[in-house]
Amino acid sequence: MSKDVIIACDFSGKKEVMEFLDLFTEEKPYVKIGMELFYGAGPEIVREIKKRGHKIFLDLKLHDIPNTVKKSMAVLSSLDVDMCNLHASGTIAMMEAALEGLTRPDGTRPLLIAVTQLTSTDEERMHKDLLIPNPIDEVVMHYAKNAMTAGLDGVVCSPLEAGKVKGVCGEKFLTVTPGVRFADGDVGDQKRVTTPEKAKELGSDYIVVGRPITAAEDPVAAYRRCVKEFLG
Ligand code: C5P
Repeated sequence: MSKDVIIACDFSGKKEVMEFLDLFTEEKPYVKIGMELFYGAGPEIVREIKKRGHKIFLDLKLHDIPNTVKKSMAVLSSLDVDMCNLHASGTIAMMEAALEGLTRPDGTRPLLIAVTQLTSTDEERMHKDLLIPNPIDEVVMHYAKNAMTAGLDGVVCSPLEAGKVKGVCGEKFLTVTPGVRFADGDVGDQKRVTTPEKAKELGSDYIVVGRPITAAEDPVAAYRRCVKEFLG
């Protein structure tokens, strides 16, 4: 199982992201492209970054009827991304359809990861707005199990939940974990954070790191430190 550091390239435009990637002359980091950049710069940005030799996690969090998700996933798969995601709340049928759409004629496909409950949704909002009465931990684990049942590869979760997810879904089920900060770094708006070293200890497979790298004075040094702490 390959573990890696994924840089969240939360830039608003092509120019900014390319300038950032130009800093990396020796390594080709795995990068996450989110909705803002994808909707602003279009699929071409994925092709260009891929052409430069980076692995790509396309973070578009699909959620629609199974047929629409299936067809959309086929489009994303043809962009040759390495990982993409959807909302587990779209049901097992939607997740199965997504996998079908993602699978290329030669049988290969990008990894498919589910979002369980967004970290911006707390238990109170889940109860009151979404009318889901169960404890949030139970809902997160239930959605993770649904993702596994549908054949997905893993979930996005906090490093603090990685062990529990693996306990429920098995060691091979991937955990992709944001909320990572250096011990001596700014926490920013993240609430529950762990260091790359701690994320490794807790069993994360991929850590998603944005501002500790993108906003660092020396992003390449920050990336290398992250890799050393997480993979070293
Ligand atoms: O800058 P920072 O390291 O906080 O970036 C984390 C990245 O992971 C951002 O792109 C953010 O949108 C994403 N993310 C997150 N928490 C989640 C899901 C995704 O921080 N639960």
